[in-house]
Amino acid sequence: MTEQGNSRAVISNQTGIHDKLDALVMRYKQSESQRPVSEHTRGAFLAVEEWLDDWQGDIVLDSCCGVGQSTATIATQYPDCKVIGLDKSAMRVGKHSHYQSGAANYAVFRADVNDFWRLAQQGRWSVKKHYLLYPNPYPKRSQIQKRWYGSAAMVDLMALCPNIEVRSNWLLYLQEFAQAAKHYGLASTLNEVATDTPLTPFERKYRASGQTCWQLNTRLDEG
Ligand SMILES: C[S@@+](CC[C@H](N)C(=O)[O-])C[C@H]1O[C@@H](n2cnc3c(N)ncnc32)[C@H](O)[C@@H]1O
Repeated sequence: MTEQGNSRAVISNQTGIHDKLDALVMRYKQSESQRPVSEHTRGAFLAVEEWLDDWQGDIVLDSCCGVGQSTATIATQYPDCKVIGLDKSAMRVGKHSHYQSGAANYAVFRADVNDFWRLAQQGRWSVKKHYLLYPNPYPKRSQIQKRWYGSAAMVDLMALCPNIEVRSNWLLYLQEFAQAAKHYGLASTLNEVATDTPLTPFERKYRASGQTCWQLNTRLDEG
């Protein structure tokens, strides 16, 4: 039986790339973050480092992983890496046990990625791939600084790993992400999500509602 959903498409009062996007990205790129790291996320970072147990290999991050269904799947795709799912919602992280895979190379932690990305970056982690699946879109024009690429956190996000996969049901989010990432020397490819097996609960919900989901993949622009 085909799954049916009733999720509404993103509605925005923005009709194209935000006219302040480039200026915002450049402003954050050129300034140093003054944001103090929260005690909670510092504690979470220490817990993750303990779990990593002096791991010297590659790491895959699944930021804003929600219940961590994607983290469990991604772990099976990267058996030679340690895979870390991060989400700030205790409620969502607490539900992860329902979505566990048999893989032993991953774990899901509660943390605010605003702070976590900075700590991971300072710790010089070797991040092979970074997933950011269905981040909150904040679609109102006035909310651009809440979107990851329009926020101060973009600096750490860009410093962590050039290979980022962002998925969204709002095409403009990914077009803006690609434009922002260009300021950091990254090139992007944008495609429709092709698989029949949804990677996350949000992807399942959007597709069951007949919405198109998109994926953006960034890489160092060597051309
Ligand atoms: C739309 S949900 C997508 C969840 C999951 N990736 C999925 O596709 O099912 C966005 C997620 O981002 C998380 N989130 C938002 N801001 C965050 C932050 N600063 N740090 C960590 N997680 C955050 C929320 O708690 C929420 O689970």
